Amino acid sequence: MLASTYIPMQVHLLVFLPAIFLILLHYYKAGKPSGPVYDTEGNELNSGEEYYILPSNRSRPGGGLILSQHNTSWPLSVAQDIFQLNDGNAVTIVPVTDNLLAEKVVGLSSDVQIKFVSCAVCLEAMVWRIGDREGANSRRFVVAGDIRADAGNNDSRFRIEKNENGGYRFVYCPKVCKLCRSECENVGVFIEDRKRWLGLDGLPLAVAFKKSTLSYNV
Ligand SMILES: *[C@@H]1O[C@H](CO)[C@@H](O)[C@H](O)[C@H]1NC(C)=O
Ligand SMILES: *[C@@H]1O[C@H](CO)[C@@H](O)[C@H](O)[C@H]1NC(C)=O
Ligand SMILES: *[C@@H]1O[C@H](CO)[C@@H](O)[C@H](O)[C@H]1NC(C)=O
Repeated sequence: MLASTYIPMQVHLLVFLPAIFLILLHYYKAGKPSGPVYDTEGNELNSGEEYYILPSNRSRPGGGLILSQHNTSWPLSVAQDIFQLNDGNAVTIVPVTDNLLAEKVVGLSSDVQIKFVSCAVCLEAMVWRIGDREGANSRRFVVAGDIRADAGNNDSRFRIEKNENGGYRFVYCPKVCKLCRSECENVGVFIEDRKRWLGLDGLPLAVAFKKSTLSYNV
């Protein structure tokens, strides 16, 4: 009798561990908004294709995002063009993933790496990251340059979230964390030296993604 109902411990583990893992994974995924990010034409944002990042409300001050210099001894930084009608410099947005099947569509709330691809000063890899504290107000600017391997690339991971008042916003989630909630900070806009810089301060910038066409490329 007993022998027939006896199940070795190993079998218990084999059955229950994957089950527990799947339950955890389910809760982890359920907590995150999902679905693709869409461009201004209503198409899914594709990994590696070129887009301009514009304010989602074009009546607001500032134009598309550009690479700009605020102090010769600091890295180049991400700013809004002062001209409202300018689209700025194109970027590519690529999911940061361990997935062997590369993700083709940029999803909401997933880690992405953003890189300028068309600008006069794009001499090296112009990957966005959060810089060190700089300037009179000790702000952390979004800067662009080579990936810093020493930071484990975690200072160049951003996420795109739906903005409550329309458009999307960028958040910065430095913690590399698979099965726990990451703490994220909004990427906002602030004014220094009469320019509109992006960084971890100011009001979140509501953005839209406009697909670049060949005629726009310089
Ligand atoms: C866009 O911004 C303008 C100027 O701030 C504001 O008056 C308008 O209501 C905004 N439109 C939307 C749809 O939020
Ligand atoms: C640039 O930054 C350095 C170091 O913080 C500072 O000493 C210098 O005054 C800054 N220059 C300008 C033009 O703001
Ligand atoms: C970023 O990654 C490095 C190297 O993996 C790690 O030492 C550091 O704690 C990470 N920073 C944060 C804020 O998670």
